[in-house]
Amino acid sequence: MILFKSITLLKKYLEKLRSQNLSIGFVPTMGALHNGHLSLIKACKKQCDIVVCSIFVNPTQFNDKKDFEKYPVTTNSDMQLLESNETDILFLPAVDEIYPEGLQQLKHFDLGYLENILEGEHRPGHFQGVCNVVYRLLNIIVADTIFLGRKDYQQYLVLKKIMQEFYPAISISPVDIVREKNGLAMSSRNMRLSNEAHAKASSIYQSLLFIKQNFDKENFDTLKLQANEILLQNGFDRVDYIEICNANTLLPASNSDGEKQLITLAAAFIENVRLIDNLML
Ligand code: PAJ
Repeated sequence: MILFKSITLLKKYLEKLRSQNLSIGFVPTMGALHNGHLSLIKACKKQCDIVVCSIFVNPTQFNDKKDFEKYPVTTNSDMQLLESNETDILFLPAVDEIYPEGLQQLKHFDLGYLENILEGEHRPGHFQGVCNVVYRLLNIIVADTIFLGRKDYQQYLVLKKIMQEFYPAISISPVDIVREKNGLAMSSRNMRLSNEAHAKASSIYQSLLFIKQNFDKENFDTLKLQANEILLQNGFDRVDYIEICNANTLLPASNSDGEKQLITLAAAFIENVRLIDNLML
């Protein structure tokens, strides 16, 4: 694996690979890598000649400054994991390299209603930050395919929208959610949970499973209330949302939308750690 910190050197190297007709796959991450990230690396390795991974804890996408400060940084073990999973290139830029003009000079992306619902509603500015960093990264890493996890389902739809506009030649490969044995979706934030909270946190998956098992029998509003109760009774302190939506648009669904592909999504806090999860219905 070759490590790059400089945009100029990375660009030069990628140009050389492109001239040899090698296909380039890109996996953007914020590090603290786990098996969820590694499934993206593996999917990339299968589909592309060259696997490029970036690790960059992007300051502009954290609406909560404390969340940014507490974000785990485990660069040494990340590099070992990437190397043992046959990553070819790691891009590990400093903040100044990605944002040379500072963190205030951001491009504005028109994300339509996706900006103001679910994650967008509860994390103002978050998706603008995500779009800014991915837009900049793709300008440097001119990939053939970008690999994104379905764990961050709304992020996947948001990025799909901006890529159609700015990078129509790059294809997107969505990768399924990797879960721990108890069903909890793997997340870098899980590291911040005590053992006790870690065990309880799987109830976010249980609440979504409850909706999946009952959505064709019960009224959606009743189901959402019951799922909310499951979370609160199992150690979650606060629920930002638990919703049933159209999986293509993320607009709220009702029982009459039974023919369409639906998805249920939740975000809730346990021990001040905000977890998200989703499940296709
Ligand atoms: P991060 O949270 O590090 O996630 C990087 C990628 O891994 C995302 O596409 C995410 O959906 C995927 N991922 C995380 N946990 C997963 C799991 N359990 N199963 C499958 N995929 C999983 O998402 C980001 O970073 C950032 O917003 C980023 C896109 C890098 C922009 O800064």
